[in-house]
Amino acid sequence: FNDAYEASIVVAHEIAQLIRQKQVENKPCILGLATGSSPTKVYEELVRLHKEEGLSFYNVITFNLDEYYPMSKESVHSYWYFMHEHLFNHIDIPSKNINIPDGMIAQDEVIQYCLDYDRKIEEVGGLDFQLLGIGRTGHIGFNEPGSHQNSGTRIITLDHVTRADAAPSFLGLSNVPKRAITMGIQTVRKSKRIVLLAWGQNKAEIIKETVEGEVSSEVPATYLQEHNNTTFVLDNGAASQLT
Ligand code: F6R
Repeated sequence: FNDAYEASIVVAHEIAQLIRQKQVENKPCILGLATGSSPTKVYEELVRLHKEEGLSFYNVITFNLDEYYPMSKESVHSYWYFMHEHLFNHIDIPSKNINIPDGMIAQDEVIQYCLDYDRKIEEVGGLDFQLLGIGRTGHIGFNEPGSHQNSGTRIITLDHVTRADAAPSFLGLSNVPKRAITMGIQTVRKSKRIVLLAWGQNKAEIIKETVEGEVSSEVPATYLQEHNNTTFVLDNGAASQLT
């Protein structure tokens, strides 16, 4: 696409179409969602579709990819806060349908909590659609280099590059949490449909490695090459190194 805006409208409309189709079928629509700068325009368009075109989210159940650990919901840095600011506060999704990893779960409960997160996704029928961004390390969710293709939701240590990229918004590297809870590669790959968004030149190199490189745990996003219904939605900058 020429720009992120144009591309985001197309992605938002695919999601809206899926939600409406599930409403006709009288079924819930299970969405896996991402935070960060990449999906914000998609959320903006979904909010517009709700406010101006009557798109309802009453049948939507969401599972967010990740959350920093430790992190309180109230913090402006939390992904809980981000999702409410950008999407949930502006649509009619029932709050009981919103699932975001709990950044304050006690250390000794975190393993069981993560297993339960994956089980809950399975219990509602699995993800119908997973929206992704990509980090410069090749992470999807916070599955950093070294992540196993069969990994489930778990607590991880963030890569230095990822923490450095987050440092400006935290006003310094030392304020960026060292860990996070993330859905696993397998959790993501079980989704029936995956759309990965990347905008701008600074994603060009990792997009090239992800799309054209060998499948490897060194670039976890390459695992998506083995998924049968994944689309990478790119602007000219992010696509600029593809051959
Ligand atoms: C966020 C997430 C991350 C981001 C990635 C890109 O929930 O899971 O993988 O998608 O770090 O971030 P942005 O979009 O800010 O470039």
